[in-house]
Order: sequence, then C-alpha cells, then structure tokens
Amino acid sequence: MKILVTGGAGFIGGNFVHYMLNKYPDYQIICLDKLTYAGNMETLAPVMDKLNFTFVKADIADRDAVYGIFEKEKPDIVVNFAAESHVDRSIENPSIFLQTNVMGTQVLLDASRKYGVSRYHQVSTDEVYGDLPLDRPDLFFTEETPIHTSSPYSASKAGADLLVQAYHRTFGLPATISRCSNNYGPYHFPEKLIPLMIANVLNGKPLPVYGDGKNIRDWLYVEDHCAAIDLILHKGRVGEVYNIGGHNEKTNLEVVQIIIDALGKGEIQFVTDRKGHDQRYAIDPTKIHNELGWLPATKFEDGIKKTIQWYLDNRDWWENILSGEYQDYYERMYGDR
Ligand code: NAD
Ligand code: TYD
Repeated sequence: MKILVTGGAGFIGGNFVHYMLNKYPDYQIICLDKLTYAGNMETLAPVMDKLNFTFVKADIADRDAVYGIFEKEKPDIVVNFAAESHVDRSIENPSIFLQTNVMGTQVLLDASRKYGVSRYHQVSTDEVYGDLPLDRPDLFFTEETPIHTSSPYSASKAGADLLVQAYHRTFGLPATISRCSNNYGPYHFPEKLIPLMIANVLNGKPLPVYGDGKNIRDWLYVEDHCAAIDLILHKGRVGEVYNIGGHNEKTNLEVVQIIIDALGKGEIQFVTDRKGHDQRYAIDPTKIHNELGWLPATKFEDGIKKTIQWYLDNRDWWENILSGEYQDYYERMYGDR
C-alpha cells in the first residue's frame, strides 16, 4: 500500500505520518509538502531515515509537479492535509487560501482521476458548517448540517469539499471527506490558541484572549483524529462525509485557565475580538461511531497534560519557529491590538 500524504510537514499531517509509519511498517508513505511557514522538517526528522518514507517538496497547486509525483509514485491512496489553515491569516490575506485550498485540491483531484487511486481522502473541518449560538447547547453539527461559512478560511475549505463531492458524483472518483473539530497535541504551530498560550506562558508574555473569551471550541487530541482517518481509509464508504469530534467543548477562557493552572503562572490580556468570530463549534460524531466504531481514546485532562509536557520537552522545536519570520506576523497581529 502506497499513501501520498500532502501537508505532512504540518501539525496534523505530521502526526498522521508518524501514526501510519508506526502502525503499518509495511506501507510506503510519500509526503508532499510546499514547506510554507507552517511546514517544518523538524517534525519529520525522526522518520526521514526510514526506507518506507519519502519526502518531496512541492506545491499541490503546481500541476506539473503534482502530475510528475503521481506518475513516478503511483499512490494507491491520497490523503490531503495540505492547506492554509489559520483563520486570522485568512482575514489578513484570503488569496493564498483560495489558491492552495481550492485550486490545489482541484489539481490533486485531477491527478487522482488521471492516474487512478483507490481512495482520495479530503481532510476538512467542522468550520464549513459555520457556528452555533452560545445559548443553544442542544445543537450539534451533523453531516446533514448545511454548509454556511464565516471566514475566508472556512469558505475555501467548503469550496474544496464541494469540489471533492462533485468529482465523486460526476467522475466516480472514490472519495471520502472528514470534518474534524479543533485539534491539539504535539507539533502544533504556535500561532494557534493552545500552543500560543503555552509558549507565551513559558516566555513570560501576556495571554491574548479575543473578545470576552466565551467562544466555544470542541477539542480533540490529534492522535484520535489520525485514528479516525485511518478507519475511514480502511472501512469508510466512498462518497461519504464523516464528522469527527469527541464532545469536549470548552470556552477559550476555560482552556487558557487550564494552561495557567498546569504551568502555575500566566496573565490573561483581553484583546480586540476576531472579525466574524465563530461562537461555538460542536460535532455530533454519531455516524463515525456507529458505522466505524470510532471513539476518542484521550480525555482532555490527559491530552492537555501530554501536550504541555511535549512543549516543555521540545523547546527547540517551537523556539526555532518563534525566532524566525513568525515574529513579524506576531507583531502585525498582536502589536497594537
Ligand atoms: P498546518 O498549517 O499546521 O499545516 C499545513 C501543511 O500544509 C504545512 O506543512 C504546509 O507547508 C503545507 N502546505 C500549505 N500549502 C501547501 C501547498 N500549496 N502545497 C503543499 N503543501 C502545502 O495545518 P494543520 O492544522 O495540520 O491542518 C491540516 C489539515 O487539517 C488542513 O486541511 C486543515 O484545514 C484541517 N483541519 C485542521 C484542524 C485543526 O484544528 N488544526 C481541524 C480540522 C481540520
Ligand atoms: P484557533 O486556534 O485560531 O482555531 P480556530 O479559530 O480555527 O477555532 O483559535 C481557537 C479559539 O481561540 C478561537 O475562538 C479564537 C481564540 N483565540 C484567542 O482568543 N486568542 C488567540 O491568540 C488565538 C490564536 C485564538
């Protein structure tokens, strides 16, 4: 079995590469990644020497490069993690989101048709469903919830999902889509809430909470996401969408307070809210549970402890990021917020 993993130098793709190489030592994994600011070869360093792992630097939107890789490698399965993934950056500059998330997906779909794959899997997000009101805790996103996006990021991910469904319906491409809630865990880029707060506490910087901090996210340990995708690849039905989430809703303030308590310090600073800020995300995972038997294995209390410990043990990994080009972004985003 040969699996092409795009975006494997990023947070979830990197964890997925590690997960699959551990679980299936006889599979070939090829990672295709453009190495944008979010891609990090340090994440893949532990597997670079493995004979069944290959890394190729390329842009998923570069048709010639992608066709060349398919021609050479002839993957059986494609799992597309490659994306611009940060909502705040999409508010600053939407163009690259459309280029990578929509046009890049189209190139991968065309290549999958042209060279033939047994499965194309699109890694999507619960953000395509928009948000839920804070005063209706009884509501959840199911696979039937209408697409209703808020940010250029979620709009671009929804555009990609619709293309995947169109390629399945029109061309019979054997495709699946998963829509997961917020992930956390090792190798998470420190611009996102949890790693940013951990890094700021450890560097003695204030903890910037947007608005009143009451927005709710549904957190899932990244390894549980990897396990769900593994199940979908092996047992999921083509043409289907699977929601992934573990009923672990927390307000941003709760999450930040848990990090402060765990590290024994940290000072919250309320800052100007994000434009169009989604109120609440909450996944109903009944379908993947009933059909594929998936359940999250890691409780938030354990997962957040493991995550904080990973950031304590791997300071070099994130300090290298913070000392680079990322500093300019931080200044632009938080300087006079
Ligand atoms: P990330 O930003 O950490 O990593 C993205 C990776 O894609 C990076 O390695 C980057 O170099 C690569 N990439 C970007 N543009 C590329 C291009 N044009 N060609 C090739 N590679 C490119 O993102 P992540 O958090 O790991 O998210 C991975 C996927 O999961 C995304 O599709 C995202 O929408 C989805 N997702 C993320 C979450 C979450 O909580 N992080 C939740 C649900 C779904
Ligand atoms: P984020 O990690 O960017 O994920 P997403 O927006 O895709 O859910 O943000 C998670 C939540 O945390 C979101 O409600 C925005 C909020 N947030 C802050 O309050 N401060 C921050 O510095 C960041 C990055 C996010």
